[in-house]
Amino acid sequence: MKVISSPSGGSILVWTLAVQLVLCWNGVYATDNTKDCKLLSESDTEQKVLKRLEPLTRKNFTVETKEDSESYTYVFQLCGDAGGVPGAGVIQVDKKTPKKHVVIGMYNETKVLGGSGWVMLIYGNGDAYVSRCSKERRNAIIMISCSRTTDMGQLKVVEEERKRNRECFYLFELDSSAVCPPVQSHFSTGSIILIIAFCLLAVYLVGGFLYQRLIVGAKGMEQFPNYAFWADFGNLTADGCDFVCRSRNREAAPAYRGVTAEALAEEPEERDDHLLPM
Ligand SMILES: *[C@@H]1O[C@H](CO)[C@@H](O)[C@H](O)[C@H]1NC(C)=O
Ligand SMILES: *[C@@H]1O[C@H](CO)[C@@H](O)[C@H](O)[C@H]1NC(C)=O
Repeated sequence: MKVISSPSGGSILVWTLAVQLVLCWNGVYATDNTKDCKLLSESDTEQKVLKRLEPLTRKNFTVETKEDSESYTYVFQLCGDAGGVPGAGVIQVDKKTPKKHVVIGMYNETKVLGGSGWVMLIYGNGDAYVSRCSKERRNAIIMISCSRTTDMGQLKVVEEERKRNRECFYLFELDSSAVCPPVQSHFSTGSIILIIAFCLLAVYLVGGFLYQRLIVGAKGMEQFPNYAFWADFGNLTADGCDFVCRSRNREAAPAYRGVTAEALAEEPEERDDHLLPM
């Protein structure tokens, strides 16, 4: 039995490790779709900003607009063929002629800017305007903002700026958790130390309590570990406080002294009460 079972256990372990290795490998290397975007300047900072958008790749984002008799559908894809149009990052489809499309921006001319909680993606080199905007090529600007509650939000058209002479653009916005700044660890060093101290204290109290109760056989307040020491410690601390913090002369506060003296006198009696049932 043992001879058969132990190698199979070993092989399960090996398989688990192998599967995990493959998963890790995939996680690190397989999804690198943002590489398909061609940045105008191959700077490291831009590459890094673009990499933040990896979770949004390989998805067609669509939005419809209606204005008077005109109705358009826009399709956006991150570093991939929007609506299956080769090279296009954003396309516009007229409802009246669904077979035709206008390319608003191409992902082989990408610019990307980013900050804490936002990324701005600019696709250039779209189809040229027929008469407006000095017959320049179209540009698409996609503003992606942090929203911790949405993986991938709904694409929205903000505006189409085509009344200028130059540098017209189509502006879109999208909410996504992908561009959110990483969440800070909830525990700082200080709080970790506090938690450890608290755990040690709990272990000390529970362990000491059990020891006093089960092994020493103490009852009542005596069950607290090192009760006598802590009682003394408490009194000493109080005395210290009294000495350091009191602003008025000690003799000038007889009321306090009276109370303290009474309390001290009562304490041994109380302890005796607890000891009686023994
Ligand atoms: C995007 O849309 C096009 C056309 O509808 C389709 O061919 C393509 O597979 C879609 N891509 C994704 C990732 O859904
Ligand atoms: C992007 O692709 C288009 C068409 O394929 C081409 O005309 C253009 O020169 C390319 N731009 C860059 C920067 O490679």
